[in-house]
Amino acid sequence: MTPVLLLAVCFLGVSALPRAEDTNRQEQLLLRSLGLSGRPRPAGSHQPRRQVPSALWRMFRRAEKLEALESQPCTVSEYGVRGNIIRYVQDQGRLVSGWSRSCQACLEKHLFFNMSILQPVEVLSLAQLEIKLHWKPLSPVQLLQGTQAVAVSLYKVVRSTLKGANPKANRRLVLSQSVQLQRESTSITMDLTALAESWRKPGSNYGLILELLPLRADPEEFLPFYPGNSLPLQPAFALPLVQASLVAVSLNPNQCRSRRRRSAIHIPVTPSSVCKARRLYISFKDVGWQDWVIAPQGFMANYCHGECPFPLSESLNGTNHAILQTLVHSLDPENTPQPCCVPIRLSSISMLYYDNNDNVVLQHYQDMVVDECGCR
Ligand SMILES: *[C@@H]1O[C@H](CO)[C@@H](O)[C@H](O)[C@H]1NC(C)=O
Ligand SMILES: *[C@@H]1O[C@H](CO)[C@@H](O)[C@H](O)[C@H]1NC(C)=O
Repeated sequence: MTPVLLLAVCFLGVSALPRAEDTNRQEQLLLRSLGLSGRPRPAGSHQPRRQVPSALWRMFRRAEKLEALESQPCTVSEYGVRGNIIRYVQDQGRLVSGWSRSCQACLEKHLFFNMSILQPVEVLSLAQLEIKLHWKPLSPVQLLQGTQAVAVSLYKVVRSTLKGANPKANRRLVLSQSVQLQRESTSITMDLTALAESWRKPGSNYGLILELLPLRADPEEFLPFYPGNSLPLQPAFALPLVQASLVAVSLNPNQCRSRRRRSAIHIPVTPSSVCKARRLYISFKDVGWQDWVIAPQGFMANYCHGECPFPLSESLNGTNHAILQTLVHSLDPENTPQPCCVPIRLSSISMLYYDNNDNVVLQHYQDMVVDECGCR
């Protein structure tokens, strides 16, 4: 059962078994309130799943701990920006050429990040490109020569390339720097927020070209490995494995109304028929969401249940209206129902999940946990 189904119980009177189409409608409603247009369908289980970046795991665990405290709402302290959604947007660009003729012994890789996965309502606060180069020298001689360096150039593609046109005419240099290569892998990060924002307009995203040119680690002069115009017979390096992701932090203002975070309220299990919060653990497996929700596996969502009898005591947190309604109900039970036992204080949880493009997303959702109930 989804939380939405449970909250509807007071109005239905009896909780009849839900029909399949009602369940689907409720699921759609819940997904929409979570800022999703539909149930994510990430690549099937037969394909290797994208690993959850360790930085995201760290942030998720930290968020879980912080939920016990009243922390700065809708701020991602790791990046110092406003936001409640952190996506690791996957690169979908292909390798253009490895050690090619067109670019003297350099490697060209197209980078493409689909930014249309952001809902229009979201405000993009940060887009940080992370490039990881996994580099293996072909021979031990390379290791003896000491640290190697590579010249990294990043171009934005401003127009789609027509067949036969010079591809270099359609690109603008964004950044160029030389980077010392580390033993196992080398990371490069850069802020691409403005560019990523421009990619959100439909039809404006042609991606980037990443160009890598190996340099000899000579402090005097960085020389390309292959001098002159002669084509390399044997490249000095095996092709590096290039992994790129765009960390996009955005704010969905609709998900940022209340300031509350989970207050580690422990709901006692005491038998009572009056309105109070009851313990309910929702397992994502039971809801059928285990294929796209990575963590947590479930959470203590709780629910409100019980009577709002006359006279309404103070502990039932009734509104003036509810107090009057119980009074009228006690006089005319046939025509006036009791007030409803509903959540009056809710708090948030964090979820880690795969979206439709197999990106890993960390999102904070408010109003997911019932802390307190009242008669309304
Ligand atoms: C980008 O993502 C959207 C939404 O998931 C999808 O409809 C679209 O086809 C994707 N575009 C590309 C070029 O992959
Ligand atoms: C009403 O609110 C108080 C605190 O404001 C809380 O302790 C109590 O449990 C609430 N009543 C119900 C029925 O949840």
